[in-house]
Amino acid sequence: MKKNKLFTWITARFPLNEFSAKHLTHYFAPRNFNFWYYFGSFSLLVLAIQIITGIWLAMDYTPTAEGAFASVQYIMRDVHYGWLIRFLHTTGASAFFVVVYLHMYRGLIYGSYQKPRELLWLIGMLIYVTLLLEAFTGYVLPWGQMSYWGAQVITSFASAIPWIGKYIVVWLRGDYVVSGVTLHRFFALHVVGVPLVLLFLVFIHLVALHYVGSNNPDGINTDHSRASDETIPFHPFYTVKDLMGAVVFLIVFFSIVFFGPDMNGFFLEPENYVPANSLQTPEHIAPVWYMTPFYAILRAIPNKFLGLAAMAAAIALMFVMPWLDRSPVRSIRYKGMYSKMAICVFVISFVGLGYIGIEPVSELRTVLAQFFALGYFGFFLLMPFYTRFETVKALPEQLTG
Ligand code: HEM
Repeated sequence: MKKNKLFTWITARFPLNEFSAKHLTHYFAPRNFNFWYYFGSFSLLVLAIQIITGIWLAMDYTPTAEGAFASVQYIMRDVHYGWLIRFLHTTGASAFFVVVYLHMYRGLIYGSYQKPRELLWLIGMLIYVTLLLEAFTGYVLPWGQMSYWGAQVITSFASAIPWIGKYIVVWLRGDYVVSGVTLHRFFALHVVGVPLVLLFLVFIHLVALHYVGSNNPDGINTDHSRASDETIPFHPFYTVKDLMGAVVFLIVFFSIVFFGPDMNGFFLEPENYVPANSLQTPEHIAPVWYMTPFYAILRAIPNKFLGLAAMAAAIALMFVMPWLDRSPVRSIRYKGMYSKMAICVFVISFVGLGYIGIEPVSELRTVLAQFFALGYFGFFLLMPFYTRFETVKALPEQLTG
């Protein structure tokens, strides 16, 4: 059968043309997308890298307490290009959080969480929490010291819940301590359970996006169903732009994979090159960098239960942000002085907390973490006030749509 005949045969039975028209050639995106709009497509690219390399790693990995560490060494030394597949996956994990944090930051500065994109944002937040779970379960698998003790610390968080906490910890671990049973269930979750949820969420994230249409750096309304002065067809304009971005991204990504995959202990912690030992607690236990802002909030509060509640609140506040922002405009370009200052305070606090979370505890660091935690919570809790009472710039009239 010739290609065009095959194509006709398929399109008579499957809405391929309608699909590509609706979502590519006749999907009209704002023409003013900038640098920040690369990170959604980069997230898709990293997701694909993680799934493909993950499948290959699972082929040679042994999910038992006796065999896990040695099987990772086997992948690194004996499996053909095993080192490459593993470094793509470990670098991919950090890259995922780099691009997702920048993707979220874009949403924050351009008000992409505001009406009518609240649900799009909420689905995004569910993706973020699922991604944290995926990263945590994956980190346990190499069964190094940090894998083991990280799992021990994080599962023990549940013990702070009054009355039922200690039962939940045993239920999570499947044992009284983190053991081979825990490892095996984390393996099942990491390779099957959580990725299925993640893929489903990413799918509905994109469905919601194409239903309401993209926001843009000016935060003005555009109509994605028809061509206008403010829009251009997604294909070929943005497919080509994203492809060019992907090439640049991959150059940076592969440079790290080839020349510094552990990023000086940032992406792969030195302690995790030591096999798990349940009788020897490492001196300093810290999660990987992308979880440290929340870890620093936990440690900043002397009471374990309150610390955990604050950590949960730090994430919960991001979920409700669409209802905290009362500004009549979306983008930071048109918001007032207070919003601009608040975003600076937020970024400094988040990065500051992230740095403190990596470092060992000290008195000065605890005070600093408390100070940054105030900045972090202040950004969200004061948002209904500063966004309502500040003076905003008028939107350009011809673009309000
Ligand atoms: C696996 C993770 C994710 C993938 C693959 C993904 C994918 C995408 C893609 C392809 C777009 C359209 C392109 C763009 O606007 O950059 C998009 C838009 C968007 N995403 Fe995500 N996303 C992910 C995670 C998140 C998270 C964690 C959030 C926030 C909590 C989020 C919130 C948004 C918002 C608000 C938009 C619309 C932005 C606008 O139009 O200005 N996404 N996403």
